Amino acid sequence: MKKILVVGSSGQIGTELVIELRKRYGNDSVIASDVQPPKAQLGDGPFETLDILDKDRLHEVILKHQVKEVYLLAALLSATAEKNPAFAWKLNMDGLFHVLDLAKAKIIDKIFWPSSIAVFGPTTPKVNTPQFTIMEPSTVYGISKQAGERWCEYYAKKHGVDVRSIRYPGLISYTSPPGGGTTDYAVDIFYYAKRNEKYTCFLKENTPLPMMYMEDAIRATIDLMEAPAEKVKIRSSYNISGISFTPKEIYEQIKKSVPDFQIEYVPDFRQAIADSWPGSIDDTEAAKDWGWKAKYNLSALAQIMLEHIQA
Ligand code: NAD
Ligand code: SER
Repeated sequence: MKKILVVGSSGQIGTELVIELRKRYGNDSVIASDVQPPKAQLGDGPFETLDILDKDRLHEVILKHQVKEVYLLAALLSATAEKNPAFAWKLNMDGLFHVLDLAKAKIIDKIFWPSSIAVFGPTTPKVNTPQFTIMEPSTVYGISKQAGERWCEYYAKKHGVDVRSIRYPGLISYTSPPGGGTTDYAVDIFYYAKRNEKYTCFLKENTPLPMMYMEDAIRATIDLMEAPAEKVKIRSSYNISGISFTPKEIYEQIKKSVPDFQIEYVPDFRQAIADSWPGSIDDTEAAKDWGWKAKYNLSALAQIMLEHIQA
C-alpha cells in the first residue's frame, strides 16, 4: 500500500482529509503531520510533528515512512496573511518548493497542493469566472497562490513532476474550525445560529462568494489524485465550483430553521478581499477532464451544519 503524508493535518481541511484517506487506504498508510498537535478526531494512526519550513526534517519523515504521496496543506490563509505578508510569502512558497524539489529528485511520486479562488483579482470577470482568464490578485495570499500555480506547472513541464491542484472556494465544515480566511464567516454564522445569538458578519450582506461543503472538496481532492495522469491536463490548478451565496442568502436559509436568528453587518478589512474575488466559478475543465461534479446545495449544507455543529 502506498504511503501518504499530509502536511497541515490539524487544520480545517487536513483533519477531514486524513479521516477520509485513512478510511480508504488504512490508518497506517496515512501519516498526519503538523506544527500543532493532532486533532482528537484523527483517532489512531501515525503522526509526526513537522515544520514544513524545515526541509531536512521533511526529508527525514518521508524516508522514515517511505512516503510516496504528499498532500501539502500548511499555509497562511487570506486574512491572516494580510497581517503578516512576509511570513505568509515565506511559508506559502518555501513549503511548496520543499515538496516540489523532493518530487524533482524522484524521492516522492505525487503531490497535491491546493490553490484558491484568491488567485483571481479585481480585473477578473466576476460571474462564472473561467479557468483561463485575467489573474491580478491583490492580496499576498492570492499572489502566493498564483505564483505557486505557475511553479507547479513549471515543475510538471520541465521536470515531469506529477503535481495536482484545485482552486478551492471557501470551505464549510463542522469538524475543525477554519484557520483565518475571508470566507470563515460562512462557518462562524452556524455557531451563532446554534446558540441563537446575534451574529456580527464582517462582510456586507450582498457580497457573493464561491463556497463548498467540505465533503465535496475532499471528494474532489481524492478524485483528482486518483485520476489517471493523462486525464490531468491542467497542471497549474483546476477551477471547481460548489455553491455561490451572499451573507444575506445564507442568513435567510438558516432562518428557515432558526426563525428568531438575527444578524448585523459590520464590514472590516476582509470586505476589500472579498470584493476582489469572483462571485461564482466555471468548472467546465474539471468536469471534462476528471468528471468533477458538486453534490451539495445551500439548503443541504445548512441542514447538515445545523445538525452537527457543536454550539
Ligand atoms: P488551516 O489554517 O485550517 O490549516 C493549516 C494547517 O497548517 C494548520 O493546522 C497549521 O498548524 C498548519 N501549519 C501552519 N504552519 C505550518 C508549518 N510551518 N509546518 C507544518 N504545518 C503548518 O488551513 P486549511 O483551511 O486547512 O487550508 C489548507 C490549505 O488549503 C491551504 O493551502 C489553504 O490556502 C488552502 N485553501 C483553503 C480554503 C478553505 O476555505 N479552507 C480555501 C482555499 C484554499
Ligand atoms: N477560504 C480561503 C480564504 O478565505 C480561500 O482561499 O482565505
